[in-house]
Amino acid sequence: MSRKLFVTTALPYANAPFHVGHMMEYIQADIWVRFQRMLGSDVSFVCADDAHGAPIMIAADKAGKTPQAFVAEIAAGRKRYLDGFHVAFDNWHSTDAPENHELAQSIYRALRKQGLIAQRTIEQFYDPVKGMFLPDRYIRGICPNCGFPDQYGDNCENCGAVYAPTELKKPYSTITGATPVLKSSDHYFFQLSSPRCIEFLQGWMNKPGRLQPEVLNKIKEWFATDEETGAVKLADWDISRDAPYFGIEIPDAPGKYFYVWLDAPIGYLASLKNLLERRGVDFEAFLNDPEVEQIHFIGKDIVTFHTLFWPAMLHFSGRKVPDKINVHGFITLGGDKMSKSRGTGISPLRYLELGMNAEWLRYYIAAKLNARVEDIEFNPEDFVARVNSDLVGKYINIASRAAGFIGKRFGGRLSGDIGVEGRTLLDTLRAHRETIAELYEEREYAKALRETMLLADRVNEYVDRHKPWELAKQSGQDAVLHDVCSVCIEAFRVLTIYLKPVLPALAAQVEAFLQVDPLDFAAAARALGAHTIGSYAHLMQRVDPKQLEALFEAPAAAAPAAPGGEAIGPAITIDDFAKVDLRIAKIVACSAVEGSTKLLRLTLDAGEGRERNVFSGIASAYRPEELVGKLTVLVANLAPRKMKFGISEGMVLAASHADEKAEPGIYILEPHPGAQPGMRVR
Ligand code: 2FM
Ligand code: ZN
Repeated sequence: MSRKLFVTTALPYANAPFHVGHMMEYIQADIWVRFQRMLGSDVSFVCADDAHGAPIMIAADKAGKTPQAFVAEIAAGRKRYLDGFHVAFDNWHSTDAPENHELAQSIYRALRKQGLIAQRTIEQFYDPVKGMFLPDRYIRGICPNCGFPDQYGDNCENCGAVYAPTELKKPYSTITGATPVLKSSDHYFFQLSSPRCIEFLQGWMNKPGRLQPEVLNKIKEWFATDEETGAVKLADWDISRDAPYFGIEIPDAPGKYFYVWLDAPIGYLASLKNLLERRGVDFEAFLNDPEVEQIHFIGKDIVTFHTLFWPAMLHFSGRKVPDKINVHGFITLGGDKMSKSRGTGISPLRYLELGMNAEWLRYYIAAKLNARVEDIEFNPEDFVARVNSDLVGKYINIASRAAGFIGKRFGGRLSGDIGVEGRTLLDTLRAHRETIAELYEEREYAKALRETMLLADRVNEYVDRHKPWELAKQSGQDAVLHDVCSVCIEAFRVLTIYLKPVLPALAAQVEAFLQVDPLDFAAAARALGAHTIGSYAHLMQRVDPKQLEALFEAPAAAAPAAPGGEAIGPAITIDDFAKVDLRIAKIVACSAVEGSTKLLRLTLDAGEGRERNVFSGIASAYRPEELVGKLTVLVANLAPRKMKFGISEGMVLAASHADEKAEPGIYILEPHPGAQPGMRVR
């Protein structure tokens, strides 16, 4: 049964290169898509850059670029990652593309026509210096609950209180440091609170098979029941932002833009439209085709948007709704979510640059993935074990044990009649086709691979029983050797089919070696018979554990340490050391220094109830926005120093080689989580 599928992954913000979390999602979806294609389904698999929103606008501004140029640069880097890891999207587009502007505006108009858009005046913080309304994450101040300084606009990290930014004491804008002022503005709301919306959403989400059970349970919590009336309540959704904003203009509302999360999922449709138009397929007809299944792969952090706002937007604009939302957990390292912004994790590009095989990572990720919303832990030893023992040791090994004999002794020709034992073994392998297909369908990749490896174990047991290397030495055993090796090659072909969604490049090499058409799932049921295969070249290397070490090291540290590093200084007493007053300080603001390529200007809070200005020669290593909000260590009793650009009231600590310009550069110190501004370092 061939299906028509429209499959997406979440659209990544166009403000940073991919981290391994992105790659995990793409690999998960790519495996599913490749599997569907192997069943003969017609799949449109698309993604795009999520280009809009205040953070991207502000980052572009700081980089001295237009937001368009800024996101274009990020977009230009995408291909290396996608090609490198064999992620085969049919289209990569942008939410700033014309298709998205048109679609977002037309969906909004339809919602308005449905009477689901309300206009209300709200009061919000405004940065009078920057001339813009401030998103919560750009406002900080003193916690209204516990008095802890420098807390985010929406919740306190110290006491956990949740509040509105307007409740903060001594609020300041993290963009300019200015005190924000309250200003009122008209906003547009999507009325999710309307009984029509609630009724629709409850019907949508409860359809069996649409959502994972744990996702459904979570969503149910958002539908609060009014204690007095018993009615179910849902809050309206604020979908507008005021200029200046990088986004899509709201029709008939000058100076108003759609909030980035309104136009982001519409980007799925825009990317599809762009693809179909190039293929000469009618987009609207395709989208309205009841046979087309619309399936989104997303992470657990963006469930609200995809299970409330998005289906409601589609439904009330007269469109078909998503058929399935597949939610995954995060990929963690030592229990921490891997992401570049948090400075943890492995860089996908570095992985490729080290010459590591992309399919090792695909295999490893697949070997850990299931259909639940669970985090998966990247464990380096486990990675080496799974690739070397399972993938290479069990699977590749089957071909390498048999292919040489077929080539050298039998002219590449497989035996057409392999005997009962061989046939029974192959029948067992073929009989698992449905089970393994079902596991792929359900995204139970770990189980699919485990089944496949159990089958590989059986084949290896067969090889060990018959010992082709001994048969080859005995006279009169040619026919047996021929049969045993032919069974191995046929078994290898069937196993390759089961692994092909995960290992597409390897499968292509195997197809060339076996001289067969591209393998699909149906091909597992047919026998190759007396077929001639090509010559065997080694298909996959083992991982060298050293490569993994290099992957986790800071880039240049992989090179041998410079001989004769800086000598340790002369001894001091503890009293000498005590003279230096080191304090934890929070970097509350940071900016470039005009006229200096070396310096950054840091505004520090060392818990003194005032802020300090410190110049630091770290501009070669950090962009200002990377540092804002971070803690570091300040030499607090260093005599103030007058510099060309102003007075520097202390010094922050940073590590480097004697030559700061030498790789790996400069690293400022950051305490473990939990340290607080003002704490003494001793
Ligand atoms: O969380 C994110 O990275 C968003 N850029 C995801 C958007 S998904 C879709 F709605 F576009
Ligand atoms: Zn607090």
